[in-house]
Parts: sequence; C-alpha cells; structure tokens
Amino acid sequence: MHLPVMAGEVVELLKTDPAGIYLDLTVGTGGHLEALSRSLADDSRLYGIDKDQQALLLAEKKLESCSQKIELVCGSYGEAVTVLKNYPDVSFDGMLMDLGLSSLQLDKMERGFSFRDDGPLDMRFDPQLGGRTAADLLQTATEKKLAEIIKTYGEQRQATRIAKAIVRERQDKMILTTLQLKNIITGIIPPPYQNKACARVFMALRIAVNNELSTLEKALPDLITILKEKGRLAVITYHSLEDRIVKRFFQKEVKGCTCPPEFPICVCGNKPRLKLVNSKPILPSESEIRENPRARSAKLRVAERIAV
Ligand SMILES: C[S@@+](CC[C@H](N)C(=O)[O-])C[C@H]1O[C@@H](n2cnc3c(N)ncnc32)[C@H](O)[C@@H]1O
Repeated sequence: MHLPVMAGEVVELLKTDPAGIYLDLTVGTGGHLEALSRSLADDSRLYGIDKDQQALLLAEKKLESCSQKIELVCGSYGEAVTVLKNYPDVSFDGMLMDLGLSSLQLDKMERGFSFRDDGPLDMRFDPQLGGRTAADLLQTATEKKLAEIIKTYGEQRQATRIAKAIVRERQDKMILTTLQLKNIITGIIPPPYQNKACARVFMALRIAVNNELSTLEKALPDLITILKEKGRLAVITYHSLEDRIVKRFFQKEVKGCTCPPEFPICVCGNKPRLKLVNSKPILPSESEIRENPRARSAKLRVAERIAV
C-alpha cells in the first residue's frame, strides 16, 4: 500500500480556501487527494493528473466515497494546462506535485522499477503510450551516455565500470530483465554495497526513461500561470537534483528581476510571481520515516502566488 508522504503538512499548507479548487499533479493511488478531500468542504472541487492509467484506476476506487466532485485525467503534469483545457476550472487555489514513483509501481514486477524479483526492464510511468523503455535505453545509449546517467542521476561512484559492463553484456545478448541488470551491477559492486548500487542505478534509469528532470524544469513556469492569486504550489521531491530545480525556480520567481547585480536599475521588467511559504524545506518526522521508510529522502517546499 502507498502511504502519502507528509500528508498532514501538505493539507495544512495547501488549504487556503476550504471551498476552493485544488489540483494534484501526480495523483498516484490518490493518497494525498483523499487527505485533501477529507479536510475540504463538500462544494470544493478536486482535479488529479497522472501519467499512469493503472494508478488512476486505483485512485478512482479510493476516492469513490469522497463527497466532492473529483475529476481524474491521464496525462503529464508537463501538459497540465492543455490537458485541463476542456474542464470548467482553469485556475487553482492549490496544486501539489509528489514526485518520483509510487509503491504500487515499485511493487509490480511487470513495471520493471524494482530489482527484488524478475520482470521486464520497462520503467515507463505511461507504458500505454508505447515510448522508450529502460531496455531500449540500455540497448541504444552509448557507454559514455550510460555512465553519465548513472553518475548524475544515480550519484553512483562506479558509474563508468557499470556502463562498461552493460555495453559488454549487450554485445552478447540484449538486456531485457531486471535480474539481468541486477546481475551486471552485482558482478562489479561488492556485497555490502550491492543493494544500494542497484537502487541507485535503477533510479537513474527511471529518471532518464521518463525525462523526469527536464519535464519538471519545463513544467514549473507553466504551472504557476494556473495558480490563483494567493494560491499555493507544494512540491515533494525525493532526489537532490529535483529539489535543486524546485528551489532555484522558487528563488527566481521570488526575486523576479533577472538583471545583473551591477545594473543600477531594472531593465528586464520581470516582477516576482511567488513568495515562499517555508524558507527551508519541510522534512518528514522521525515517526513518519519509521512508519514509511520511503519518506526518508522527502523534502516539501511550498510557495504562494502573488499578484503581478
Ligand atoms: C510518489 S507518486 C504519487 C503518490 C500520491 N501522492 C499518493 O498519495 O498516492 C508519483 C506519481 O507521479 C506520477 N508521475 C510521474 N511523472 C509524472 C508526470 N510527468 N505527469 C504526471 N504524473 C507523473 C507517477 O506515475 C506516480 O504515480
């Protein structure tokens, strides 16, 4: 079962109007939406987007008993503005992004996110669209590119050796399954570090397969255009690079002006569009981490739209 991370904090910081309109950009199995729905008035309206059709079906079930009108839409948060254009509400009092993957995705071996058991190396959040899988990436990327992905997204030290071993293996046979990849990694990394190394390489490939960082970076500026004045955007990240993107974006929008500091007056004309609700990221409590170890790397940042 997927437990929503920092659900209490998210609801408290996001709910500016109990009868407002809220958008969950990464619904997953609906844990945060359910928590939000419980704290909102019956006439509030809720929307949810996720790339993963399977997750949305489960979310729909979970949210059946909620008293508000909830619309769930399959698509990428990167296209939220387009995806929602046929719905009556176009601006929101609160929006949430809970990045990464859900326990549902991790636990289903056929999705290829986990190295616990064997499964196809898929790793797409939206397999229904038929894009590039992790197996495709392992088959086609250059050794240099593979090393870069493993090093940058996985922060794994022996990235070059692992990339070399992947290329060596694929010259013999295609790398199609999670255990095949696990065996390549454990052939290089000694026992006490094997699980950590596998987790990092799998995470790195997942980030690359789903273009997670570039999607996030491109989506943020669009998303704040559909926030009402005083509306809030809450983002939960699980990776330092994700957090850095959110932190820098918030800083840029809080500052507004992009003129070099030596300019005597502003010539860019950019005005601040956000103010920070929390200056430091909020972290899960010790007890939440004990109950839900998946929360341990989570960071929550919240910003509020200001009038421009
Ligand atoms: C950590 S889970 C969200 C869990 C959810 N908050 C809950 O409580 O059940 C992250 C979700 O984001 C979805 N996702 C990842 N990238 C996405 C994107 N670009 N657009 C929409 N959904 C995305 C994944 O499919 C996954 O279901």
